[in-house]
Amino acid sequence: MKYSILIAPLLLFPLSAAAYVTSVASPSGNISLDFDLQADGRPEYKVDYKTRPVVLASGLGLELADTPSLMSGFEIIGTDTLSFDETWEPVWGESSHIRNHYRELLAHLRQRDTDRLMDIRFRVYDDGIGFRYEFPTQPNLVYFIVKDEHSEFAMTGDHVAWWIAGDYDTQEYDYTESRLSEVRGLMKGAISSNASQTQFSPTGVQTSLQLRTDDGIYINIHEAALVDYSTMHLNLDDDKMVFESWLTPDAQGNKGHLQAPCKSPWRTLIISDDACDMLSSNLIYNLNDPCAYDDTSWIKPVKYVGVWWEMIGGGKQWSYTFDLPSVKLDETDYTKTKPHGQHPANTENVKRYIDFAAEHGFDQVLVEGWNIGWEDWFGHSKDYVFDFVTPYPDFDIDYLNEYARSKGVRLMMHHETSGAVRNYERHMQAAYDLMDKYGYNAVKSGYVGDVMPRGEHHYGQWLNNHYLYAVTEAAKHKIMVNAHEATRPTGLARTYPNLIGNESARGTEYESFAGNKPSHTTVLPFTRLQGGPMDYTPGIFEMDMKKVNPNSQGHVNSTLARQLALYVTMYSPLQMAADVPEVYERFMDAFQFIKDVPVDWEESKYLAAEPGRYIVAARKGKGGNDWYVGCTANEDGYESILSLDFLDPDKKYEATIYADAKDANYLTNPQAYTITTKKVNAKTKLKLKAAPGGGYAISIKQL
Ligand code: NOJ
Ligand code: CA
Repeated sequence: MKYSILIAPLLLFPLSAAAYVTSVASPSGNISLDFDLQADGRPEYKVDYKTRPVVLASGLGLELADTPSLMSGFEIIGTDTLSFDETWEPVWGESSHIRNHYRELLAHLRQRDTDRLMDIRFRVYDDGIGFRYEFPTQPNLVYFIVKDEHSEFAMTGDHVAWWIAGDYDTQEYDYTESRLSEVRGLMKGAISSNASQTQFSPTGVQTSLQLRTDDGIYINIHEAALVDYSTMHLNLDDDKMVFESWLTPDAQGNKGHLQAPCKSPWRTLIISDDACDMLSSNLIYNLNDPCAYDDTSWIKPVKYVGVWWEMIGGGKQWSYTFDLPSVKLDETDYTKTKPHGQHPANTENVKRYIDFAAEHGFDQVLVEGWNIGWEDWFGHSKDYVFDFVTPYPDFDIDYLNEYARSKGVRLMMHHETSGAVRNYERHMQAAYDLMDKYGYNAVKSGYVGDVMPRGEHHYGQWLNNHYLYAVTEAAKHKIMVNAHEATRPTGLARTYPNLIGNESARGTEYESFAGNKPSHTTVLPFTRLQGGPMDYTPGIFEMDMKKVNPNSQGHVNSTLARQLALYVTMYSPLQMAADVPEVYERFMDAFQFIKDVPVDWEESKYLAAEPGRYIVAARKGKGGNDWYVGCTANEDGYESILSLDFLDPDKKYEATIYADAKDANYLTNPQAYTITTKKVNAKTKLKLKAAPGGGYAISIKQL
């Protein structure tokens, strides 16, 4: 069993049995939380950081459908407190050990008039807090429907926020940086023009939400352990600067169907006066349950290439033919259709990628468009289109898996569900069986388009249960999952570490559609990455998309050196080298960094960070002594003196520095880079400059 608790958890029992405990401080005392009831018996809490208020008195409670709400009329009937301290070992991660150290306050509440029980559990860490609602087994609350959750987060002022619009079906937005008071005015421009307006609130934003106060406190609001519940957005009362939870509805407009005993996900606040601490926080993983699997030896980080950018960037097709405007699987004989000849998932081309992967040490080759159904994946019959087991006639699944194996490489499976979730569940066992048969151990899945059954949303309870079902069923086959368009992660990979990736934000694919803001990768680690790794698919070396596809409107808003840095700054155990082999062949010296960089780490340090501006991270590879550094900067660039004092003072190293050339610029000169090597040690200081939209990557190998 890989997972182990290295330090036995230390539990201390009630501090005081007589009076109710309604305050709890973090282990170091820098964060404190007060719990109380308002005059009408509504629960409320507030949070201080280093004696300064960060969350003012904020109400808690849930509104129920068809039955009195759990909003007021409560009395405290008991409290429990404990201290907890463990160090656990993740199967993969930014570091090999994670300390989970908190103080807890569990408030037992009874609603007088209805004689119903609700507990609120608070955990207070040195880097933030979490709380959740718990509903014990009881006679008067068994089955219930959440109409709305009313958890408040009362801010102390008009903070700066990095936000994307609240939306039940997509997270693939560029971030807006603004004051909270400006959110309303900027909302229209922040939502995509083709999105359904009914889903939006004029001040509604998604989590994970990053904030900064005028006196330099960073606050992140998100959730942890989102299981059997719908995803939370936040609605801002911009008069009072109070956020309130805003849950994703189901097809009937309800927010959750629950049965006691049960609990909500954790509502989380990460808090620090140092932006680097926001990035190194493990609060969200710590609030998730320990690993659910006894054997995790089959879960392995993956570096991969794939038949992908040819379609995304190059405009080629996932489909095999244009012949089929609307298909029924059992009525279609693809061998009688006319291929359009632009189908990269063909045996010969896939072989080329396998050869490239084998030559350069990649683990896997993703192949999208290998299976029938793509002709109609947005069509009316999409609930029946994909069966996830039938290859197109030009993809020799047997031969290619055998060929890959002979070269020490595996193919990576692809399941685009097109949001037809019922269809996916219908075929899931056969699909995983097929993977077993051919030796696939990782699947990239996807949920593009409107959800079927109609009316359900990507972030509703029903879909959230589906995503987890796909992961736990996959585990029975020793299959790892990387789900695109699924709900944003909330640390569930601690419990289910075969969830090795998610997209769940705007990834590199948008560089080819319209471009991402140059600051995008300086925000994502503060927001999207809080809950788990992202399959960001970095490594694009050809930024001029017109050269890739004359019809493209996109431009990759990054320098080449920064594309290398993203393998360090965007932590993930699953990393793609997303460009095509013929482009890498033009830049083999820079490509060396992608070949070298590990995807699993012993230790990570954030050396400098400011959301929307820059991030500098250093990581030591697992089981080795080599370090890797990455810097990503916004359109202003970033200049700094980097101290290598994280190196072992007794060892000597050689650094290879992949930097922007003096005249590099993400728009006008993105491919200008320099590579220099030099001997370094723990005393070395390097003067480094990231160009506008640029960055640098350094490999530091022990001599
Ligand atoms: C959207 C995903 O993000 C992308 O990676 C994939 O290629 C397409 N859907 C098709 O499945
Ligand atoms: Ca996507």
